[in-house]
Amino acid sequence: MMNITYDEKNKIFHLCNEKISYVIGVLPNGHLGHFYFGKKLYGNLTEEMFIRRQYKSLTNYIGGYENLSLNTELCEYPTFGTTDLREPALMTKSENGSIITNFEFVDYDINKGKSNSDSLPHTFANNDQALTLDITLMDKTLSVKLVHTYTVFKNTNVVVRKTKMLNNGSPISITKIMSMSMDLSSNYSDWVQLSGDWARERHMVKRILDHGITKIESKAGSSGAIHNPGVVLTTPNTDESTGEAIGVNLVYSGNFEISAERDQNDVLRVMAGINQFMFDWTLMKGESFETPEVVLAYSKEGLNDLSHTYHTFFRHHLIHPKWINERKPILINNWEATYFDFDEYKIIEIAQKAKEVGIDLFVLDDGWFGNRNNDKEALGDWAVNKEKIPNGIDGLCKRINEIGLDFGIWIEPEMVSENSNLYRKHPDYIIGEPGRPSSKGRHQLMLDFSRPIVVDEIFNQLIQTFDGVNIRYIKWDMNRTITEPFSIGLSKTSQGEFYHRYILGVYDLYRRLSNRYPNILFESCSAGGNRFDAGMLFFAPQTWTSDNTDAVERLKIQYGTSLFYPLYSMGSHISDIPNHQTYRNTTYKFRNDVAMFGTYGFELDLNRLSDEEIKSTIEYVEQFKLKQQLIHNGRFYRIESPFTGNTTAWSVVNEDQTECLVGFYQVLARPNQGIQRLQLKGLDDSRLYEVKSSLYNGTVSGSYLMNHGIIFTPSSNGYSINRQTVGDFQSYLIHVNAK
Ligand code: GLA
Repeated sequence: MMNITYDEKNKIFHLCNEKISYVIGVLPNGHLGHFYFGKKLYGNLTEEMFIRRQYKSLTNYIGGYENLSLNTELCEYPTFGTTDLREPALMTKSENGSIITNFEFVDYDINKGKSNSDSLPHTFANNDQALTLDITLMDKTLSVKLVHTYTVFKNTNVVVRKTKMLNNGSPISITKIMSMSMDLSSNYSDWVQLSGDWARERHMVKRILDHGITKIESKAGSSGAIHNPGVVLTTPNTDESTGEAIGVNLVYSGNFEISAERDQNDVLRVMAGINQFMFDWTLMKGESFETPEVVLAYSKEGLNDLSHTYHTFFRHHLIHPKWINERKPILINNWEATYFDFDEYKIIEIAQKAKEVGIDLFVLDDGWFGNRNNDKEALGDWAVNKEKIPNGIDGLCKRINEIGLDFGIWIEPEMVSENSNLYRKHPDYIIGEPGRPSSKGRHQLMLDFSRPIVVDEIFNQLIQTFDGVNIRYIKWDMNRTITEPFSIGLSKTSQGEFYHRYILGVYDLYRRLSNRYPNILFESCSAGGNRFDAGMLFFAPQTWTSDNTDAVERLKIQYGTSLFYPLYSMGSHISDIPNHQTYRNTTYKFRNDVAMFGTYGFELDLNRLSDEEIKSTIEYVEQFKLKQQLIHNGRFYRIESPFTGNTTAWSVVNEDQTECLVGFYQVLARPNQGIQRLQLKGLDDSRLYEVKSSLYNGTVSGSYLMNHGIIFTPSSNGYSINRQTVGDFQSYLIHVNAK
């Protein structure tokens, strides 16, 4: 059962559910202490159980409290200006220039369910699924309140946090306001971050959290491919199946930072929120500011279990229930099939073939609007190009619907080309400082979405083209990052609000389009996975995982992405060979077997496939449809990592442990290979399972499959035709079903 209590005598808040406890203490000076986040604690809790204060010479003490130095306390949301000289979670500047604050506990409130922001993406829960605690602190000198909000959910190892500042005094500027901070006294020694760049997003990187500050961040205006806005803290022995782990994942798509400071006493201060870089937000009397949410998760059973917690939580408390309850369409996208070179005839040809193989939805990618025949022009002009599509979007959509497919379309609403009607009419709509040149990315400029007038313009253009058309899917792209951050819509004292207001503008357009078209499924994209985050998932239940469609590269990208995000949300397509990003030739089966572990779709011209390949495509699509429920709702296990070897394995298991699908991949052939054992995960020890695959067929117990494992001897050196090496890029789907 979920429960939140405040023990007045011991001054301890205890949030818990069936699985976890989160404990906060009110310190003697009224600040908050972080006492515990981990497996559920039973019984009475007192301050002495979590901290031992002792007099230390050469340490500053809070006036009136002999042994209390915030520098050596375990703080919950540290501020700056008294005795704590470590990294603060909050920084402000008052009218007189002072940065000193002193927020003291005032009162608290406990409510059923969860309160949500109107402007930010957020997790949700009904009154039976969650309990929320608001702790109010006050700086009496400033007349400013801070409200820290914590939500615990039924039966999941998750706590969601956010913070709000309310000003009732003179104007104050916030220069840093994190969504969360906590000081950990236990032995978290490392973290896993997801880092990379375009076409190699979210590779798993482990870092030692040594003395000083370890940090990841984005200054690009989007969460970014360089670092994903989430980390997992681990203890020295944590691996996929064992050990403690705390996940920190921001529900935010703009500039972020996550840091861990190892201090002089080995305490680890972890915090996450909007990047303080260039952040400066003024609150006038009566105004408030709310941070994005952060989703904290805990596991004592390793990374796989933590990932599973995030996957389930995001599917039930972040992604709109409408999409969770519907079968996702298998789609075909014409980008790599045609690039800009298409007309209606070519599109229809692809769609007809797609229908033949069992695909559900056709997506018309870039190039359908304005004078867009290459990537140098027409962004910002969202009216159809009649030369390419004579019957308009509506006509094309009807034609596609007649063929028996749903219709989807690509947009890149945050951008404008210099050669466009929009730019000629409103050159002042772009981001940048007048009088200075604005840099281009992919030949394009960025619209200033921090200005509502600019968002309105794009909204009005899009609805003119889309209203009344039976569109079922939109791919929302964003192909460059912000440079020259300056908005003519903001005063000289408000430029520090620019980045956050920009992303609020993006969220606003998402909200308006989703409200107007509730049946449109959005897929977010940012040159592939440059904005794959929980903030986006709130609006767009799936994200184009990477522009890199090479199946070998995708092993790493999809494996890393699964640290936080469910397969259900990962756009994954079969593409042509040689691959357009790496020029690698992989087998059709290998490409299929990798794409299956995601949303599944196609990114090629099916008319160019051989009869044999079309036959396989029909079988593959049928196979995916049979397994889709399992893949999208099952429990995902990472088994063998592509970051450490030549083979990769992963699997999904249904809730009853009666059905499992394993994907096993050997990237390069190795002659005269020894025996390798593939130990499965998540099955029932004592059950019998029927295994079907080209590696092994037979009936064995769950304990055999998990402890001994399936024997893998794929290749041999061969003078005999029957014993030849099987070649590079081998993949095996192993079907495991309870007897
Ligand atoms: C980006 C996307 C691609 C494609 C192109 C179109 O690169 O990630 O999938 O839509 O833009 O210009």
